[in-house]
Amino acid sequence: MRNVPQPFLKWAGGKRQLLSVLMESIPEQFEVYHEPFLGGGALFFALFRANKIKKAFLSDINCELIETYRAIRDIPNEVLSLLQEYPHDEEFFYNLRALNPAQLSRAECAARMIYLNKTCYNGLYRVNKKGQFNVPFGRYRNPKYYDPENILAVSQSLQLAQIECASFEVVLQQAQPGDFVYFDPPYIPRNTTSDFTSYTRHGFSLEDQKRLRNVCLELTKRNVCVLLSNSYTPLIFELFENSGFEINIVYANRFINSNANERGKIKEVLLANYPLQRARQLRLLEHTYEYTTR
Ligand SMILES: C[S@@+](CC[C@H](N)C(=O)[O-])C[C@H]1O[C@@H](n2cnc3c(N)ncnc32)[C@H](O)[C@@H]1O
Repeated sequence: MRNVPQPFLKWAGGKRQLLSVLMESIPEQFEVYHEPFLGGGALFFALFRANKIKKAFLSDINCELIETYRAIRDIPNEVLSLLQEYPHDEEFFYNLRALNPAQLSRAECAARMIYLNKTCYNGLYRVNKKGQFNVPFGRYRNPKYYDPENILAVSQSLQLAQIECASFEVVLQQAQPGDFVYFDPPYIPRNTTSDFTSYTRHGFSLEDQKRLRNVCLELTKRNVCVLLSNSYTPLIFELFENSGFEINIVYANRFINSNANERGKIKEVLLANYPLQRARQLRLLEHTYEYTTR
């Protein structure tokens, strides 16, 4: 048996390489799992593989992405038969990219999204101001842009999920005591050159980071377990000062970055409103000290 389901898209900020630390950091027990910045959904699929999902509420502000998830959940074979017909060819890529998703069937939209994502330059999803996908053709020799076994396993896992196109605050309408929410927002930029916020035409501002902090505090009042990823910046320590959230430092390899010097091991933070492992708590003290004594 292969280790499926796995993310079926390449997604900037994807959490595959932090999975082991995320899996160690989840609450012992929870009812419904919520992931309001779904992207490639690495943690959802890992939790499903570990038999931890009873029911899930998955959402993202990117409606094309959400429609792709829904099509895979509901009509995976139609999506697969389209993908089987798509050649790996530059002209085909640009013709497909030029199509307006609003005029396509559900299966066509999903197949287009998967194909473009897996054959475009760097596997990025990026749109222009009008919301049109604008990444050029990537020169891969033989990209494997779909894996039928995985798509079918993804479809099965999504049977447990309600999937919505919405901003992250939607979680406040859904989450109940005993649920678990994992927030993986667009990160606070560590410096001006790493400001990658074009997942959608909306971007993610400082105001959004504050609104997200307020949602975390509201969920805490309701006895919902919250885990949050973000970059290691003074601002995240300020936002969560005296919030009762624990902050852990983790190290990630980051590859999607316009500046080649920025690739490599990068410090990130994991915050939680429930007790994390003792080893992590000790590291927290060390690094909080680093910031507060400067
Ligand atoms: C860092 S990515 C998530 C990566 C994901 N955890 C994974 O494993 O691939 C952030 C996601 O947040 C979404 N997003 C941006 N602004 C949002 C908002 N206001 N509400 C909900 N989702 C938003 C983006 O579309 C993007 O998919």
